[in-house]
Amino acid sequence: MICKIDYQPPADLLKERVILVTGAGDGIGRAAARTFAQHGATVVLLGRTISKLEAVYDEIEAAGGPQPAIFPLNLEGAVLKDYHDMAETLDKEFGRLDGLLHNAGLLGRLTPFEQYNPELWDQVMQVNINGPIWMTQALLPLLKASADASVVFTSSSVGRKGRAYWGAYAVSKFATEGFVQVLADEVEHLGTLRINSLNPGATRTAMRKSAYPGEDPMSLRPPEAILPTYLWLMGPDSRAHNGEMFDAQPPKA
Ligand SMILES: NC(=O)c1ccc[n+]([C@@H]2O[C@H](COP(=O)([O-])OP(=O)(O)OC[C@H]3O[C@@H](n4cnc5c(N)ncnc54)[C@H](OP(=O)(O)O)[C@@H]3O)[C@@H](O)[C@H]2O)c1
Repeated sequence: MICKIDYQPPADLLKERVILVTGAGDGIGRAAARTFAQHGATVVLLGRTISKLEAVYDEIEAAGGPQPAIFPLNLEGAVLKDYHDMAETLDKEFGRLDGLLHNAGLLGRLTPFEQYNPELWDQVMQVNINGPIWMTQALLPLLKASADASVVFTSSSVGRKGRAYWGAYAVSKFATEGFVQVLADEVEHLGTLRINSLNPGATRTAMRKSAYPGEDPMSLRPPEAILPTYLWLMGPDSRAHNGEMFDAQPPKA
């Protein structure tokens, strides 16, 4: 696994790039969107809570970044048409997409599989894997229209090695890793589009808090501290890497 936590990006790394971030209103997605904009990207903020997206929009504007765009969408209820409408809007506005960070995620419940609620299972699979897959399909023409496009799917340690009680969340992340390999292989010949997976590692967010309520959040890196690998993957320095697994944080000693 490759980790680029020591990467030092130039200030204009993402200049002129249009990057869509899902789950951009909170946690890692919020930090990623702000940092991409800080490095010159025009960021499309996608999420389900409009007030949170508006707050990130304002933060980017106040910091002097390129004017972002807001795309409210709940991945749980979204259907193929929503993704195609989104692609049409982005096409009209930008004509291409240079980056796509699939970051939105749902934890579900940590519980023995015997007690796992099937509706919750479907909900987690919808938000974590089915939604991102169909969104990617709809956006492929725009990604192909870019001279250098990067798609990053967010994985997890439990998507690389199964762990008891992690249920649909772990299974959705395994599926994510599998899909990355399939699609990366399909687009390899293009030479202009790469698809990789990235495991953020333990990060101080609301999701982590609900998975580990007894943990001291201050013992974890905040989202802002894990972003060098995100930046590296979105910028031109990762161009030769396709179908690989990345880690945002080095393994614990
Ligand atoms: N934090 C960690 O330690 C850790 C470790 C490994 C992997 N990850 C992965 O990293 C990614 C980000 O996690 P995080 O820790 O930043 O989580 P978070 O703080 O809970 O943020 C998740 C984001 O996803 C959005 N989201 C959830 N359901 C959605 C839906 N149905 N439609 C649209 N957006 C939705 C949330 O929107 P609202 O704010 O509106 O609810 C929020 O912006 C996830 O894919 C997660 O699995 C995190």
